Amino acid sequence: METSKITTQSLQKRKGAEKIVAVTAYDYTMAKLFDELVDFILVGDSLGMVIQGKPNTLSVSMDEMLYHTRCVVSAARHAHVVADMPFLSYQVGEEEAIRNAGRLLQVGAEAVKVEGGVAVAKTVARIVDLGIPVMGHIGLTPQSVHAFGGYKVQGRTEKSRESILQDALALEDAGAYALVLEGIPVELAAEITRRVKIPTIGIGAGSSCDGQILVNQDLLGLNPSFSPRFVKKYADLADTIRKAITEYASDVRKEAFPGPEHSFHVTH
Ligand code: KIV
Repeated sequence: METSKITTQSLQKRKGAEKIVAVTAYDYTMAKLFDELVDFILVGDSLGMVIQGKPNTLSVSMDEMLYHTRCVVSAARHAHVVADMPFLSYQVGEEEAIRNAGRLLQVGAEAVKVEGGVAVAKTVARIVDLGIPVMGHIGLTPQSVHAFGGYKVQGRTEKSRESILQDALALEDAGAYALVLEGIPVELAAEITRRVKIPTIGIGAGSSCDGQILVNQDLLGLNPSFSPRFVKKYADLADTIRKAITEYASDVRKEAFPGPEHSFHVTH
């Protein structure tokens, strides 16, 4: 594992050599815990769901992304930090996309991530040309949830498979330095990973990708009611937290907390 700060270049050198490990974070405390252990941290617009309790990511604003990116950047000494461009921050016009990407870099992100392939390739090329690294995100792109009719695996038909492959090639041509492949069949993820020279980061896309990413709340078991097939729970923090809060509440109610060791006295 690299000890110095991870960069877009060092991530690209990993392709075909060493798997890339990524996780989402939205706040200082979690980012500090993850920093030394992963290669990059994504400040995902998934914060709309896991932080704000919304049904999807569509309402997340630029100001919210800037706020959470600042929190994560304060903790990241080692991991590369990527910030999501939220819905409508890059689709309306190239000028606006460039300004919004630049704002995320101004608060300390080292790259931005956009959803979509062929449809956003021209915008990606403009942003990249101006010196802002862009990570692509294709397949089951959550900002298109209504177009997909739900969170459904994409690329299962020949037409959809070919269109996602073209998205990958268009983003690589546009200068994207890495690609998130979400919710696609393992065979398609393997083919894209073979066909592009940039690293692919999978989520629900099988083990052939050059790296993997998960939402931290999912892998830490903080979200007990969410157990999709693509998530492996590495902890049951919901249970640990419930037990701790139950014990704290009981101690307060029976006056076992605070004890003398937690209390201060006047000095004479
Ligand atoms: O917003 C997010 O957390 C993401 C990851 C799931 C890839 O885009």
